[in-house]
Amino acid sequence: MGGLVLISLGLSDERDMSLRALEEARRCDLLYAELYTTLLNTDVERLSRLLGRDVTPLRRRDLEEGAERVLREAEERRVGVLVGGDCLAATTHISLLLEAKRRGIETRVIHGSSILTAVAETGLSLYRFGKTVTVPLPQRGIPPLTPYRVLGENLERGLHTLLLLDLDVEGGRHLTVNEAMRLLLGVEEEECKGVFTEETLAVGAARLGSESATIKGGRVRRLLDMDFGPPPHVLIVPGRLHFLEEEALKFFAGCREEDLRGRERYLEDLEARTEKYIRSCEKVFGELRISSLPRSIDEEGVREILGYAEMYLRDAKYYLEEGRKASALSSVSYCEGILDTLRMLRFVEFDW
Ligand SMILES: C[S@@+](CC[C@H](N)C(=O)[O-])C[C@H]1O[C@@H](n2cnc3c(N)ncnc32)[C@H](O)[C@@H]1O
Repeated sequence: MGGLVLISLGLSDERDMSLRALEEARRCDLLYAELYTTLLNTDVERLSRLLGRDVTPLRRRDLEEGAERVLREAEERRVGVLVGGDCLAATTHISLLLEAKRRGIETRVIHGSSILTAVAETGLSLYRFGKTVTVPLPQRGIPPLTPYRVLGENLERGLHTLLLLDLDVEGGRHLTVNEAMRLLLGVEEEECKGVFTEETLAVGAARLGSESATIKGGRVRRLLDMDFGPPPHVLIVPGRLHFLEEEALKFFAGCREEDLRGRERYLEDLEARTEKYIRSCEKVFGELRISSLPRSIDEEGVREILGYAEMYLRDAKYYLEEGRKASALSSVSYCEGILDTLRMLRFVEFDW
């Protein structure tokens, strides 16, 4: 009887397997191990010894090129694929399961511990995390714009961000907390949005779940030269903090009182500036007069453009209510830009 079982190995080494994972692995006729998407402190020899049968390593291209061999074998025999962390967390093997289902192969998933929940060891509440993102290994000087943008969006909503740090297990390369921070500071230099600066509060964590786990938090300036030891590493940027999270960050991550104070400035500045611009645009709409226009200019056309400016103002108020402060600021800036242009063209009269 065939079947495909995805079996989670857990976070650190083979001792993180659950009893269910051990049982399932021992019931399989064939066992593979996918050990390239995360870095575990184990190898196929140790896994083979523990499970009492041969474990064959799967390379990235074995799975990425359709996993034909694994699926064909699973039609006849029970095949287990061992995966680091939780087999469906942060790394997606869903296409393998889907293809097996399409072929009528029975599938089963055995869950395990994962970096996605282990970050709670920092003291930050899992419910207050936004989108997770990976900082890629540097490629030909391409800056990590996506992680910077995701971080900005999460911060805008007051949410924490988990930044996974890229690994090339087969090539023996990995990104450290320090390198990831430098890459993000590089993007900040270009983008200048205040999303990730030397003043940002961050937490670096390494080897969570192992005896040598490390968690260190503080302002980026202080973390830049700290040593986090061997991989795997993650970087976390806290959003708005509950007082219990602040307390926990002091105990679990070594954050100092001064690291936690005054850090809301980015969000508060954004909110205060947006509110101020919205107020002044509203005042302008209350007082504005359309000038006496030369014949060549159509008053209807001017009113239509004013209508666009009003729409941007409405969007800004909506975004602000939703807590999307950067979007609110850009919308109100469009509104201001349109009003200013009409004034410079002498189509309308008002004072800011
Ligand atoms: C693509 S994710 C795979 C996650 C895995 N499936 C899981 O559920 O934990 C791999 C990334 O997670 C992070 N990571 C995984 N295990 C970790 C650990 N024990 N400590 C710190 N970071 C870890 C590293 O950034 C690594 O590059």
